Amino acid sequence: MSKPKIFVARAIFPEVITRLEQHFDVQSSQRDETGSKALLIEKLQGKDGAFTTGGDRIDAEVLAACPKLKICANMAVGYNNFDLAAMTAAGVLATNTPDVLTETTADFGFALLMATARRIAESERYLRAGKWTQWRYDMFSGSDVHGSTLGILGMGRIGQGIAKRGAHGFGMKVIYHNRSRLDAALEADCKAGYVSKDELLRTADHVVLVLPYSPASHHAIGAAELALMKPTATLVNIARGGIVDDAALALALRDKRIAAAGLDVFEGEPRLHPDLLTVHNVVLTPHIASATVPTRLAMAHLAADNLIQFFTQNKALTPLNPEVLVKR
Ligand code: DGY
Repeated sequence: MSKPKIFVARAIFPEVITRLEQHFDVQSSQRDETGSKALLIEKLQGKDGAFTTGGDRIDAEVLAACPKLKICANMAVGYNNFDLAAMTAAGVLATNTPDVLTETTADFGFALLMATARRIAESERYLRAGKWTQWRYDMFSGSDVHGSTLGILGMGRIGQGIAKRGAHGFGMKVIYHNRSRLDAALEADCKAGYVSKDELLRTADHVVLVLPYSPASHHAIGAAELALMKPTATLVNIARGGIVDDAALALALRDKRIAAAGLDVFEGEPRLHPDLLTVHNVVLTPHIASATVPTRLAMAHLAADNLIQFFTQNKALTPLNPEVLVKR
C-alpha cells in the first residue's frame, strides 16, 4: 500500500523529517520558502496531511482547493492560523502542541518581564553605542519585580506557570483575569487572586498577556485599557499579535503613559508597527517564547506523533476538533 502523502510547510529538525519519512511520502520545505496562500495551496495538492506552523493559514479557501487533506498538525499551541469551524465542516482534523512548551514559555515570559522592568535591552544599546562614560544615581532606574503586583490576563497553563514563578520565586502578589475562574486548589497553588480586567489593569505593576487570540480578544489592550494602567507599570505580550493595538501602545510608550513594554508577538508579524522601532522603552523579540532546542524538538515530535497516530490508528494525542475522528 502506498504511504499517505504529507507536506511539511516550513523547515523543521532533520531528524523529525527522517521520522516522518518512515511513515509518509514527505514533501518538505527545508529551504523554508514562506509564501503566499497560492503557494501553500499548490504544495498541498494531492496531500493527505500537513505539518504546519503558526504562520500557515488554513481556511475555507485552502480547504476547498485541497479536497484530499485530512489533517493539519500545527507545531504550536496557538492555532489562530486555523479556521477551526471550516476545518471541522470539511472533516479535516486539527491538532496543536500544548503542554510540551508550557514551562519554557513561562520562563521566557518572566525573562521578558525582568528585561522590561529593569531596562536591560535599553541599557545594553546605550553601552554598545559607547555612551556610558560614568556612573549616575538614576541611570536606567527601572521598577522592582520582587514584591510587586503581577497581573496576568489569560490564566491557562502558561499563565499559571508565570504566576508560580512570580508568587513563589519573587514574592509577588499575583492577580489574574480569565474567561473562567480557576478552581480554589489551582488558585492556591498559583497564589493568585481573581479580579476584573479593569481592576487588574488599574492595580498591577506588571501586566503579562497570555490569552489566546480570537476575534473576541482582538485589541483587548488598546488606548482605553492602556489609560487604566499605572504610569509606572509595564506590559508584556507573549500571547499573539493583534491582542494589543500596537499603534496605541507605541503612542502610550512614547508619551510615557506606561513605563515600558516587552513584546514577543506583533500585529502582522514579522512586520512591526514602525512606531515601535522609534520608542526606547520597549524590548522587542521575534516570537521566540518557546524557542529552546529541547522544547522546539518536543513540539515538532508531538506534531509528528499526531500525524502518525492519525494515519495509523485514526486518533491523535492533542486533537482540537476530535468530533472529526468520530465521523470518519
Ligand atoms: C505557540 O506555540 O503558539 C507559539 O507561539 C509558537 O512558537
